[in-house]
Amino acid sequence: GPGKQTQLREVEGVPLQAAIVDNWGQIQSFEAKPDDLLICTYPKSGTTWIQEIVDMIEQNGDVEKCQRALIQHRHPFIEWARPPQPSGVEKAQAMPSPRILRTHLPTRLLPPSFWENNCKFLYVARNVKDCMVSYYHFQRMNQVLPDPGTWEEYFETFINGKVAWGSWFEHVKGWWEVKGRYQILFLFYEDIKKDPKCEIRKVAQFMGKHLDETVLDKIVQETSFEKMKDNPMINRSTVPKSIMDQSISPFMRKGTVGDWKHHFTVAQNERFNEDYKKKMADTSLAFHFQF
Ligand code: PPS
Repeated sequence: GPGKQTQLREVEGVPLQAAIVDNWGQIQSFEAKPDDLLICTYPKSGTTWIQEIVDMIEQNGDVEKCQRALIQHRHPFIEWARPPQPSGVEKAQAMPSPRILRTHLPTRLLPPSFWENNCKFLYVARNVKDCMVSYYHFQRMNQVLPDPGTWEEYFETFINGKVAWGSWFEHVKGWWEVKGRYQILFLFYEDIKKDPKCEIRKVAQFMGKHLDETVLDKIVQETSFEKMKDNPMINRSTVPKSIMDQSISPFMRKGTVGDWKHHFTVAQNERFNEDYKKKMADTSLAFHFQF
């Protein structure tokens, strides 16, 4: 489609969609409130999954209440902008407190008022190789992001952080480093996959919610990949083809750990591991991900 000519622009070296850059003043002066909870992720790391988990917790496991709106509209996406529609900032401003918001911004681009108000941050990290694969398929089908090119081309683009929201490495390291200084619950996609109940319980605790075991079990069931894939409030089936062409690749694609093994060649994997070692040398997060 015509959207495929989309060019990203940069804010302090971080590529972003042009409409976001155009609205940057409004984003940076966003006024957070002390009782805001901000869901923070690098793209394709489980944002939608954790949003549904958080909403299910908030609604005490009431499935019908979670059907009140499309998932992408339940938690304002603060940097989002597509005029003439209301921006993420405007949607957040219109939302009653306590607000649950979401962002893909790296720490250094976050509106300062989130730090100043000591908000709660819920961060979800996903292993970088699966993130890259997921993002590649997403860019193939998303008509308002640049064309990813071939897998070989995308491999370079991603490694160099030239994708929307920038480098995975900078993103996870940035959020990991501020962990001790702010109220941050740092979760991993792979852990949620392995033991969803345990991770969901952590999220509930972090949100100050006490849920019965039966409610927790229900949330585990309702937030499975299979359930979410079939849920029209989640699977983006109402998004027009001119924005997401799901005949190319579905939004709820596979939801697995290790799909990178079906994409990386042996040579790419070696090159990637070497680069990973260098870029992760200065963080205790380096060994968390097992490849
Ligand atoms: S976005 O566009 O950045 O908001 O995408 P995001 O939601 O962060 O990530 C999409 C990937 O998460 C997978 N997903 C899930 N995995 C497991 N369980 C559940 N319930 C679930 N929901 C979404 C989704 O399938 C994308 O990953 P891939 O690997 O492409 O399938």
